[in-house]
Amino acid sequence: MIKSSNHILDLDLMTAPQIEQIFNDADEMTDILNSDYKKTEALKGKTVITLFFEPSTRTRSSFEQAGKILGADVINIVNSTSSSKKGESLYNTALTIQSIKADVIILRHPHSGAPYFLSKLLHKSTIINAGDGMHAHPTQALLDMYVMKKHIGTLKNKKIVFVGDISHSRVVRSNICGLSKFGAKIVICGPQSLIPTDFLSAENLPQNHPFKNISFEPKLHKAIDQADVIMPLRLQRERQDSGLLPSLREYASYFGVSLHKLQNAKPNAIIMHPGPVNEGVEIDHDVVHGPNSVIQEQVESGVAIRMAILKSVTQNEVSKIE
Ligand code: CP
Repeated sequence: MIKSSNHILDLDLMTAPQIEQIFNDADEMTDILNSDYKKTEALKGKTVITLFFEPSTRTRSSFEQAGKILGADVINIVNSTSSSKKGESLYNTALTIQSIKADVIILRHPHSGAPYFLSKLLHKSTIINAGDGMHAHPTQALLDMYVMKKHIGTLKNKKIVFVGDISHSRVVRSNICGLSKFGAKIVICGPQSLIPTDFLSAENLPQNHPFKNISFEPKLHKAIDQADVIMPLRLQRERQDSGLLPSLREYASYFGVSLHKLQNAKPNAIIMHPGPVNEGVEIDHDVVHGPNSVIQEQVESGVAIRMAILKSVTQNEVSKIE
């Protein structure tokens, strides 16, 4: 039986050593992924269920791939074909899934807090947050930080710049919670209509608050100056109220990351994006597919990180089948 206290809800609930352990385990998982026979029996007999109430390509498929490589049985449930369409509540859906013996439930939900709600009510299944509303996306932040460390080494005092729709981004919140534990210098840049007010007045936050160390720079060329990592974010049109932006064209001209604007950046600054990408809006095609882009490496590392997370929550040792 998996301990239900193993839920992965967000990075503010994880310590720096716990995060580093996930990274070390992901190195081990990368060796398995790079081997000829990508299969282990570590999670044999375990059932992993992905329960997604919002669209996903990367997170859902990489969790499925991770679970299958580790030998788990993986079942995918999506909103459009589930009984939630017939009016079933999230709680009753989750109880049903627990009753069919799900060891791990990976939940994506449009409501912030949904995984926390289930984690308090389910006692036999472990919950992994695969993105809840505008709140958190911890497994994305873990893979982002893992890729950053691979390229820039220690995160301490490194300048990490997030550009764009900060208000609606669960990715940026989880990244800030994680990066602040490792002493990174976090800069946010974007139109003020897309920056949360508590980020603009971080000096009023309590000393140990993860958002205390954020600085806001409204001009993109200044934000990216001497940056080690530049991560444009998707405009989350599905979560935005109307009237936050004059037009996409104006947004792209001020905040779209282009090769021309990157002339001010360090030559070895890495370009990241959590995906999916709106090319020509928050980032240009030439930058997405340019030499400094590590976007596909993020996707690739997502499998190793999610294997490490599944190992962590089931507390099983992983060994390759020879
Ligand atoms: N980054 C991310 O969560 O992508 P998907 O929506 O494709 O899962």
